[in-house]
Amino acid sequence: MNNAKPTRIYPMRKPDDHCPVVQRYSSSLDSSVSYVRFVVFGQQGQVDGFQSLVRKFFASQNAPDHRDAAQYTDPQGAKNIFTVAYWLDPISYNAWREGFDAWLATQDPKEADNGYWFETFSVPTPYRETIAFKEYLRGLSACPYSTIEPIGESAYWGAARDRFAASAYDSLGPVDDQSLTVNTDRDTRGKLLRVEGFPNNLCVIRSGVSWASCGEEQLDSYQNNLAPKLDEGMQYLRDNPAETGCASLRQVSYLNTDGTEAPEAFSLGFFLSFSHLEQWAEHHPSHLAIYTRALAERKKFQENLELKTYHEIYVLSDDAEFLYFNCHPNTGLLPYFENSQV
Ligand code: HEM
Repeated sequence: MNNAKPTRIYPMRKPDDHCPVVQRYSSSLDSSVSYVRFVVFGQQGQVDGFQSLVRKFFASQNAPDHRDAAQYTDPQGAKNIFTVAYWLDPISYNAWREGFDAWLATQDPKEADNGYWFETFSVPTPYRETIAFKEYLRGLSACPYSTIEPIGESAYWGAARDRFAASAYDSLGPVDDQSLTVNTDRDTRGKLLRVEGFPNNLCVIRSGVSWASCGEEQLDSYQNNLAPKLDEGMQYLRDNPAETGCASLRQVSYLNTDGTEAPEAFSLGFFLSFSHLEQWAEHHPSHLAIYTRALAERKKFQENLELKTYHEIYVLSDDAEFLYFNCHPNTGLLPYFENSQV
């Protein structure tokens, strides 16, 4: 974690003398980096043609510093394929965005075969935190200008909060007592819609897992002990937006560069605030079961642990934008906030 240490108002949650059994790492950004720009661009309907669209836009001048690809079938049965892209230079992103907007302006949602969704935000670096294994880098940790540093803030409740530099002076809580209501009866097809009226400090998590290096024993443990609990937890979040403050939860397969599915997956979730996410992670039986089991396995296997996980969490400000082009009404943040036609 970089940047000068701010004056602390809120105490750290780290217990005195805490010493994690397995060394974990976090991405430290070069001091020249002030903001992280995160873009998710997805296609809904057919998956064909998306990779060439991505090559056209994301491999050109002002390309992102890093991008990953993933796909999933959503609970409404629609296929979605998407790219997650990261820029650390706002000038480069703005230049790239001009080209993307020019392309979007030529598209007619009434004539389109597919839907597209575009979700983006930029956060000042103290409003991001990451945790990783040093040999398995994804997302922000895989960007240039990011180095991977050992951390002591892991394996206790509150470690994620402590890893946010901003948690020293920001409670990362909800702005008010806003809760989520769901409206999926809107006529969203054939339109380009912008989501409005979302709170300023929405929280986004990308949490991933790879079983590529697992031998029989640890693969069996992942498939039988962890994965079912993870599925249960993700289903619970999708089914209970009002109780959890979780507004969108995509459970997706990671794609290799040739478009085949890799032995890894991630979840991309939007929450009303970081406190909402923390509350679920710390108190809901589905994550508690995964967490306890994963920490027990770390203790057992130590440096021979084969299952690799990472996550990155962002707390947003008003620099966030959510656009949906000819998508069904359950897509992304559409059901939870106001929609206005562009
Ligand atoms: C296979 C899947 C998962 C496993 C094995 C797992 C396991 C863990 C473990 C071991 C930690 C503690 C990390 C550390 O500090 O060293 C952790 C923290 C956390 N996990 Fe998960 N997790 C998984 C999926 C998820 C998902 C999908 C989400 C959210 C959508 C999530 C949310 C969190 C949060 C917010 C924390 C931070 C808790 C804190 O430090 O207070 N996890 N998880």
